[in-house]
Amino acid sequence: MKQEKMEREQWGSRIGFLLASAGSAIGLGNIWRFPYITGKNGGAAFLVIYIALAFTIGASVMLAEFAIGRAAKKNAVGAFRELKGGVWPLVGWMGLAVAFIILSYYAVIGGWTFAYIFKSFTGLMSLHDISAAQDSFLGFIANPTQVLLAFFVFMLMVVLVVYKGVGQGIERASKILMPGLFIVLLVLVTRALTLPGASKGIAFYLKPDFSKVTGSTIIDALGQAFYSLSLGMGILITFGSYIGKNENIPKSVVTVTFLDTLVAFLAGLIIFPTVFAFGIDAGAGPGLTFITLPAVFSKMWGGMVWSALFFVLLFIAALTSSVSLFEVVVSYCKDELGWSRGKSSLLMGTAIFLFGVPSALSQGAYPINLFGKSFLDAMDWMCNNILLTTGGLLICLFVGWVVTDRIKDDISNKGRLNFALMSPWLLILRFLAPIAIVMIMWSGLR
Ligand code: PFF
Repeated sequence: MKQEKMEREQWGSRIGFLLASAGSAIGLGNIWRFPYITGKNGGAAFLVIYIALAFTIGASVMLAEFAIGRAAKKNAVGAFRELKGGVWPLVGWMGLAVAFIILSYYAVIGGWTFAYIFKSFTGLMSLHDISAAQDSFLGFIANPTQVLLAFFVFMLMVVLVVYKGVGQGIERASKILMPGLFIVLLVLVTRALTLPGASKGIAFYLKPDFSKVTGSTIIDALGQAFYSLSLGMGILITFGSYIGKNENIPKSVVTVTFLDTLVAFLAGLIIFPTVFAFGIDAGAGPGLTFITLPAVFSKMWGGMVWSALFFVLLFIAALTSSVSLFEVVVSYCKDELGWSRGKSSLLMGTAIFLFGVPSALSQGAYPINLFGKSFLDAMDWMCNNILLTTGGLLICLFVGWVVTDRIKDDISNKGRLNFALMSPWLLILRFLAPIAIVMIMWSGLR
């Protein structure tokens, strides 16, 4: 057989790369968490703080990650080895482990969103009050057959996309799914804003209230920005490794941050007008999306359609984020273990599914607990409060202090591109971001 040199895969187009990265960032966090913390933390006042932090600290860390990836042209572990070696590959290992763990439960919830698209047509809309919707949801997540089946199907879709490769799989799926997400989002925003009484919801969401802004608000905003932009775990390093050498990375970072923030903002324009129009309290998390909103949709004319569209939105958000998590793992197996993409996807997809089974069953089917929380919540807590932040901190220090010149060289496309904000960016990575991240960790552990 002819000896072929294995070329590293690359994004086929700039738009494909941007949509895939935005797809990673735009996830459940944008839709079920951002609106809620904004409403609770002073509305427009919080929004301003969030935007300021996302575009400074968040975007700086994102830029660092993309540049590590492109400079090394390797998976998360290999990139640190390539650029420095020593103990640094451990940071990549941590990212790899976090991607594996997060995906194992994120995909469980992805399965729920998928199931709820269909449930919108099969009886969900006949449950008109919150307590009936709650019983139905709790019954669903306690049903081992249903949750495992939904989890399996969702994971299968993630595997199929990644199996097809960077260009034919991830990029192509993003080019179809992300425009779909934007369309569904705009349809739902229009519906929500035209409900009678919508303005009360908008007032709650956006009325600036600076008295609610405290130190912990700022930490909340930063934590949310970090999670929402998928920072600190090797996703963007992996995606960065497929960026071509002529791409303007700083510009891409601004685009991805903008899209992520836009979707989070618009999600609030769906949720608050909708629940306020029906005089219901909005919360955050699974309760809001799987209980409150279906109950509200059921009272609306054409509720089935609104409910199904809403779950399609969540499903796409969850799917593209899951794909990015899975690519971290697959890219490692390909580069470091020399496995084919097919073998990596199938074996690792199976491993992640098996590891996710306790999470899937821990929500009511069986009492599988760890550290006094359900297995799913324990995994989520550990990743968000410890591993993601530690990863982010080490990435800042790595770029800010250890491999600075090499990364600067990469960001400026070897001097061909003038990145005017190089000095402020370095200042953020060296001092501001590390301090801010330590503060998030501290508040999370308290
Ligand atoms: N950024 C995604 C969201 O906002 O839901 C979630 C996410 C995906 C977080 C992947 C972390 C991650 F590694």
